Amino acid sequence: MPYVSLTEALAAALDAREHETGLHSKRVACHTMVLAKRFSSDAATLRQVYWGALLHDIGKIGIPDAILLKEGSLTPDEWGIMQRHPDIGRHILDEVPHLAQAAEIVQCHEERFDGSGYPRGLAGEDIPLWARLFAVIDTLDAITSDRPYRKGLGFEVAAAEIQRMAGSQFDPLAVQAFVAEEKTLREMVALKCAESPAEAGCHVRG
Ligand SMILES: [Fe+2]
Repeated sequence: MPYVSLTEALAAALDAREHETGLHSKRVACHTMVLAKRFSSDAATLRQVYWGALLHDIGKIGIPDAILLKEGSLTPDEWGIMQRHPDIGRHILDEVPHLAQAAEIVQCHEERFDGSGYPRGLAGEDIPLWARLFAVIDTLDAITSDRPYRKGLGFEVAAAEIQRMAGSQFDPLAVQAFVAEEKTLREMVALKCAESPAEAGCHVRG
C-alpha cells in the first residue's frame, strides 16, 4: 500500500541522517510486531503499533545536526534539547489523521518502566503497553546491530542485558514476551528481517 511505502521511506530517511546502518527503524518495527501479536490480534491496533515503532524517532527531525550527530557526550543543555524528540514526534503525528495510537507510542518510546525515562518520567502501566514492548526491541537492535565503530554483539549478549533490566528499564511482562519469542527474534536478527520482511513473516499491509 502506498502509505506504508511512503512511511517506510520517511523512516529510512531518518535512519540515513543518523548514519544508522541498514534499516534500523524497519527492523525495530518488524521485531516489535512479534511481541505485539502476543497481546492483540486486532489488525487496526497492530498497524498503529507498526507505524509507531517505525516512526519512533521522527521527532529527531527537530534536533539540530550539531547535537544529533555530536561525537562524545552531550552537555546538559544539549541533552535537554535531545530529550524533546519524543514530544516533537508526537506533535508531528498529531497532525496525521488516524495515527493517534502510533503518536502515543512515539511520545512514550524513551520512557522506562521504573520512571527514569523521558520526556514525562512515566512509570509502569502509565506507559502504553506497545511502548513498553518497543523499549525491549530497541535495546535488542542497539546491541545486535553494527555501529561505525564496532560490529554488532551477539543475540545472547542482548538477551542477558534485557533480562537483567526486567523491572527497572523494562516491564517484566515485556521481557517475558521477549523470552517466549526468543527463537523467532533470534532468527529475524540473523536474517536481518528488514531486508526481507515477507520472508521473516513481519510484513504489515496498510
Ligand atoms: Fe528515540
